Amino acid sequence: MSKTSIGVAVIGAGMAGKAHAAGYRSATAVFGEALPPVRLVSVADAYEPLAAATARRFGFERFDTSWQAIAAADDIDVVSVVVANRLHRQIVEALLAAGKNVLCEKPLSDTLDDARAMVAAADAAGETVARIGLTFLRSPGIAFLGQLVRSGRLGRLINFDGAYWTDYACDPNGPISWRFKGPAGSGALADVGSHLTYIAELFGGPVATVRGGTLHTAYTSRPTPLGMVVGHEHAAVSDRREPVENDDVAGFFVDFAAGGTGSLQVSRVAQGHPNTLKFEVFCERGSASFDFRHPGQVRLRLPDDDVASSGYRTVILGPEHPYWRGGLAMDAPGVGVGQNDGFVFQARAFLDEVAGVAESESLPRNADFAAGLHNMALLGAATESALAGGSAVDVPLLAAAH
Ligand SMILES: NC(=O)c1ccc[n+]([C@@H]2O[C@H](COP(=O)([O-])OP(=O)(O)OC[C@H]3O[C@@H](n4cnc5c(N)ncnc54)[C@H](O)[C@@H]3O)[C@@H](O)[C@H]2O)c1
Repeated sequence: MSKTSIGVAVIGAGMAGKAHAAGYRSATAVFGEALPPVRLVSVADAYEPLAAATARRFGFERFDTSWQAIAAADDIDVVSVVVANRLHRQIVEALLAAGKNVLCEKPLSDTLDDARAMVAAADAAGETVARIGLTFLRSPGIAFLGQLVRSGRLGRLINFDGAYWTDYACDPNGPISWRFKGPAGSGALADVGSHLTYIAELFGGPVATVRGGTLHTAYTSRPTPLGMVVGHEHAAVSDRREPVENDDVAGFFVDFAAGGTGSLQVSRVAQGHPNTLKFEVFCERGSASFDFRHPGQVRLRLPDDDVASSGYRTVILGPEHPYWRGGLAMDAPGVGVGQNDGFVFQARAFLDEVAGVAESESLPRNADFAAGLHNMALLGAATESALAGGSAVDVPLLAAAH
């Protein structure tokens, strides 16, 4: 990239938009020194007070109230798109056409047609970088276990058992928002299932077939909010109710193309689980497990344990694990790590790529739109399986998973 600085904008200042804004703010303070100066230019949100407050809090030069203003701005090179999934396509296409490098939140969209169009737009944009935000792949424990399993040290993968349970929709009188609208499978399955399926494929490789799909809506209507709803907040509501269109709970089994099987469950109505992403991977000669309630540690059953003392051990993460050294302000062993750190690592990887920093000098690149399309095809197969009473559905191998 020939520019001597990179101008950054974030579209959407809601729950995840603020994490992107904070990520860019911290990104230059972590890892190497190869980046040109990064200018935090604008935060855009349709709700002006939120745009203004977020820009001020995270040190951006200005705020805007429309994404069109970001697309038209000459001083912006890099844009995160962090709004409702169904809005992604229109905004991303316009940004790419305007020559902006785009980091789009997951999932790419609500429909496969949109996702295909977004891949085509990214291809047409040539050198412009188009990536999808998948923060959990950058959680040090998940990245470490992924490397360990793929290295073969634990032997061939037999089974991935994963769940992503959240409780943000437990209250049937919580306000309806964009999350509850959309086609079958656009609820918990798309929202948190997109993360879980990416992680499953990090371990098992591309999924070939999905079976036993189920989709369940626990609360079929929710009240209309009286004002703005940000993220999972409980805004004041009216006495009018609207139908919930998508799933509160979903589950399915997968067969990986390379062999091995998996079971995946997601929920947004799991009482007592605000953000429980957890999985266990069973391989021929060992096992590994991770639970996001304790993101600074992993558990391992290694093949070289002697029989008398064998069993699961807890490993506290530190500078010997991915993303830690130079990636945390205090990068000492055992200091802990959280979901927000993943947004910093993600922003740094994106800025490095846009700036032309070689991957060997940087972090693993963020996933591309083709991987985002594959993820949606996998979620689509799970939906199709559920709608067909649990039948086996092949996933079109549209692209490599990672
Ligand atoms: N990676 C993660 O961990 C993670 C976590 C949460 C959400 N997400 C993703 O981030 C995206 C946003 O989710 P969220 O929870 O932050 O949503 P949110 O509802 O909290 O925020 C969305 C924001 O977009 C604004 N908005 C709506 N229409 C707009 C427009 N036309 N132009 C500009 N702004 C507009 C709204 O005012 C709101 O502030 C989704 O794609 C979601 O899947 C990712």
